[in-house]
Amino acid sequence: MSTEEYAAQQKYQDAAVAQTYDEVRFSSFKGRLTDRMEKSAVLRALGSVLPEGGLVLDVACGTGRITELLVENNHQFVGIDISMEMLQTARLRLQRFNGFSNLLRSDVARLPFQDNAFNGVVSMRLMVHIPSNLHVPILTEMRRVTKRWLIVGFQDRLCLQYWRRYLFSGFRRRGNPITVGALKREVEHMSLQVVETFPILRGVSETIVVVIEKQ
Ligand SMILES: C[S@@+](CC[C@H](N)C(=O)[O-])C[C@H]1O[C@@H](n2cnc3c(N)ncnc32)[C@H](O)[C@@H]1O
Repeated sequence: MSTEEYAAQQKYQDAAVAQTYDEVRFSSFKGRLTDRMEKSAVLRALGSVLPEGGLVLDVACGTGRITELLVENNHQFVGIDISMEMLQTARLRLQRFNGFSNLLRSDVARLPFQDNAFNGVVSMRLMVHIPSNLHVPILTEMRRVTKRWLIVGFQDRLCLQYWRRYLFSGFRRRGNPITVGALKREVEHMSLQVVETFPILRGVSETIVVVIEKQ
């Protein structure tokens, strides 16, 4: 896979960024609402394909926000992230589940797991940071380690939030947005199929959780 750098590989390795990650994003009223809606979308996605639970890999688990949700909903987990600083917070968050040893530092480009090691892979708030030309290699690596399911958060281009920001910022693009149609066509070539989408607020909010099946 390309070794091309992107900002998020470094950004979250800053201790100050890692320590304030949850507070900055999820402590205001809007932040709490966003957090709740994202988690609800992830749970609906997981429930649609892995209702009995299973071993799930949280890719770019960060501070363990989504990892915690997995444990609370009867999944076993492994969490990986490139940032030790983010993993530090995840360790504290997950220690009550005795799960801190299931967290490891790794690059999504080279996951240290065998093929088909997990029942599912979940990844939230990563793809928005990944340049579009790296979406395929990263999804390919996630595909390799899951038996069947990928549950991945993307930034949807076809929504009010994206276009409002684009217009008010003087036509500056932020993130790496996709359309579901383009994503479907892109993953088809990788023997993956988009089976369902869970927008956190359809047509309004950018975040969309996509369930992808390995063929
Ligand atoms: C916005 S945070 C998302 C954290 C968590 N998934 C959540 O939803 O709260 C993005 C995370 O991606 C991680 N990351 C960025 N590039 C990565 C890479 N190449 N491999 C693994 N993790 C990476 C960062 O360290 C950071 O923790």
